[in-house]
Amino acid sequence: QDKRESLYVLSQWAGKFFKEQLWNTDIGNSIGLSYFKERGYREDIIKKFDLGYSPDVWTGLVDEARKDGFQDGYLTEIGLAIERDDKSLYDRFRGRVIFPIHNLTGRIIGFGGRTLKTEKSVPKYVNSPESEIYHKSDVLYGLSFAKKAILDQDTCYLVEGYADVISMHQAGLENVVSSSGTSLTTGQIKLISRFTKNVVILYDGDAAGIKASLRGTDMLLEEGLNVKVLLFPDGNDPDSYVQTFGSAAFKEYISAHQQDFIFYKTNILLKDANNDPIKRAEVIRDVVESIALIPDEIKVSVFIRQCSSLLDIEERVLLSELNKIRLHKA
Ligand code: UTP
Ligand code: MN
Ligand code: MN
Ligand code: MN
Ligand code: MN
Repeated sequence: QDKRESLYVLSQWAGKFFKEQLWNTDIGNSIGLSYFKERGYREDIIKKFDLGYSPDVWTGLVDEARKDGFQDGYLTEIGLAIERDDKSLYDRFRGRVIFPIHNLTGRIIGFGGRTLKTEKSVPKYVNSPESEIYHKSDVLYGLSFAKKAILDQDTCYLVEGYADVISMHQAGLENVVSSSGTSLTTGQIKLISRFTKNVVILYDGDAAGIKASLRGTDMLLEEGLNVKVLLFPDGNDPDSYVQTFGSAAFKEYISAHQQDFIFYKTNILLKDANNDPIKRAEVIRDVVESIALIPDEIKVSVFIRQCSSLLDIEERVLLSELNKIRLHKA
């Protein structure tokens, strides 16, 4: 327990270190702060999300942390430093802008660091490893800033990345969280469902985003949540869309294009099927498989009806397919 508390304290301290680097050093200003400003982030938002900068040196944070009395073991435990074979330490987040990750109560538990380089060989984001205070699969980025708005709106927007959360927040849509990557977990869904049962998936408009949205939909349905999905035009994500077209156009786009999961999934799959009857049959089965995950029988029958008119198939046929799938799973 003492150890956990020490790890929290060290995380908080590191968050402050990265912030000081961003705001109070020439390098931090000219590289980090100007990066955020070029992305269109306002100063109040940069401050609200505790964004920072990690200098491009081997032992910037390590040296300061030692000076302030933190033990090496804690630095490596939460991954702020990495240990070499000879036991010497170096900073994990060198030369990156920093997105602190907060827990539900707003305490810093980890970090994401984005590179400023454009080479494909450099990983775009480096993240804190799992630790006693940071379990990635039970964390939603942005939730501490979003929870009140999620309760107020009774809806949660789910996005892929740090940048999406921040840009939407700045645009006035504060009920938004990120799964930090594309693979949503059951723990993250349980976390959302403490605040609302209604989720709108706003993943990136690329192949990975589409694939993840279909998988995420099934997981959310299985946990009893209501799912809408929206696809951004090719290559866009919520961040790029809102920064390019502005917040009014963004809000309009969302309300006009969000679709109930059943329309979304059917349309996506039908596009690939063309008019091939065998592929069409597969689409139907695929959509019914998603419906079969829903625990609420009333919702199931509503969706079967929708699906029937959408695909122009008799309800009776869909119901028998549904029962087959359920039998198979039982
Ligand atoms: P994206 O690849 O969509 O990046 O990853 P992005 O957020 O749009 O990046 P920007 O806009 O260029 O800054 C979405 C999320 O997946 C995780 C991060 O949480 C990121 O925000 N991710 C991505 C990683 O952890 N590592 C990576 O190398 C890439
Ligand atoms: Mn734990
Ligand atoms: Mn992406
Ligand atoms: Mn993205
Ligand atoms: Mn992006």
